Amino acid sequence: VADGIRGATTARRIDGAVRRGPPVTIFVDDRPLQCFMGESVAAALLAAGADAFRRSVARDEPRGPFCLMGVCQECALRIDGRVEASCRVPVGEGMRIERMRR
Ligand code: FES
Repeated sequence: VADGIRGATTARRIDGAVRRGPPVTIFVDDRPLQCFMGESVAAALLAAGADAFRRSVARDEPRGPFCLMGVCQECALRIDGRVEASCRVPVGEGMRIERMRR
């Protein structure tokens, strides 16, 4: 999976009149990523510049979030050891995220 994560918390974030929760650090493929309470894991990764969250089983193509409401499962990630739809899981301090090859 192409990395895509730039690590900066402002890579794709709107500045200005946005109120955010307190900063937290999650670990994506063992790399720290700062994000904010109240965000979903998918939103945190998208904000950091990630496009590919996993690879498709059939064609080994990059896959990423599509619906952002828990329906398509294209945002699946291993979160603290469990495969979950990352758009439905809020970030938490020290959370461990693994992008799956397939
Ligand atoms: S983006 Fe569709 S389930 Fe998460």
